[in-house]
Amino acid sequence: MSESRPSGALLSSRIGGLAARTALPLVVPPFAALVYPLILEAFHACVTSLMSGHAAAPALRTALAVLLLILALAMPMLALLSAFSLGEIQEPSLAQRRARAVALLAVAAPPMFVFLGVELYILKDPVPELWLWAAFWLAAAGLVVFSDSKTTIASLPGAKPARAGLRVVHGLSALGILVIFLALHLANHLTFVAGPEVYRAVMKTVRRVYRQEVLQPLLIALFLFQVGSGVYLATRASAQPMDRFRSFQIGSGVFLAAYVLGHMNSVFVFGRLYLGIDTDWSFATGAPAGLIKDAWNIRLVPHYGLGVFFVLSHLAAGARAVMLTHGVRKAYADRFLIGSATAAAGLAFVILFGMSGGRLSFALP
Ligand code: HEM
Repeated sequence: MSESRPSGALLSSRIGGLAARTALPLVVPPFAALVYPLILEAFHACVTSLMSGHAAAPALRTALAVLLLILALAMPMLALLSAFSLGEIQEPSLAQRRARAVALLAVAAPPMFVFLGVELYILKDPVPELWLWAAFWLAAAGLVVFSDSKTTIASLPGAKPARAGLRVVHGLSALGILVIFLALHLANHLTFVAGPEVYRAVMKTVRRVYRQEVLQPLLIALFLFQVGSGVYLATRASAQPMDRFRSFQIGSGVFLAAYVLGHMNSVFVFGRLYLGIDTDWSFATGAPAGLIKDAWNIRLVPHYGLGVFFVLSHLAAGARAVMLTHGVRKAYADRFLIGSATAAAGLAFVILFGMSGGRLSFALP
């Protein structure tokens, strides 16, 4: 009978509309994002047992805690790798296109999780955080597996590349942000390793620049423009297949869009309006509990660390694109991006080290 129901074995080898073999790689990013908070919880459980002083096999537990933290930092990178391979498919199916969009979104899981936590805290936790988080990523995975995987689409109907002018303005605005604020802000964070007094003194000085009556609204406007234009450019560019370097530019941009909105929400709405506090050292480092030992604050480690890494390497990805349009050899431009991203990772490590209690004084007489 041609209309007979599929056997149990056939059913179990399919997930949604896709064969299990095809579906599994596509849903790795949303499932990685789904388990991200559980990795942080496992890290916290390890640290709590170590702090109690009664942990069995403390060396093993310390190694496990380090491994879990690395895993939390690697989760967005796994999503990025998936976006790399999906971006290279010349004629993707609708399922693959959606899987790529979901993978790019999963890159932004750390700032999304911080934003969710802050909002639920302000709203006095009406719903358990993990329920909302799981529902969102399950829905994203569902969107992928129930999409058409048979018909391939060379490019999305009506999707034209964005105007070159907008890319130029996006770049100029980034340059403005870097000069007015970001270079000072990150230089300020590099002084975490020098302790609270130095950090606060530097902050007092740099605030004289970006907290000026004219500059602060301009800075916020530039950031909002950056997010809006960036999301628009990313959706336009995503309509075409691309190499890993372009995918990196888009993935880091998606992270930053979520990061900037979430971070401004934390600073302006949560810190200054809701708590009415000075958003200085204590606010940034989650004092008095600190970043590492607190169950909530631990989410700030991947959030801030990757924030620094992605903002610097996204700027480098923009510079690489400018180099290519001005005839610089691709091999050189690619090496420039790889070198800059490595330096950005080093800088992010130094900032995180200082934020988590590491001090330069260890090395001083
Ligand atoms: C380790 C990483 C970071 C930490 C710990 C951090 C922390 C902070 C703190 C404490 C403030 C309040 C500053 C003040 O009151 O004067 C702030 C403001 C801000 N941060 Fe960050 N930040 C980090 C990275 C970034 C990055 C990468 C960006 C941009 C992509 C960014 C964008 C902003 C913006 C727009 C403000 C508001 C500035 C204003 O007051 O006008 N931050 N951040």
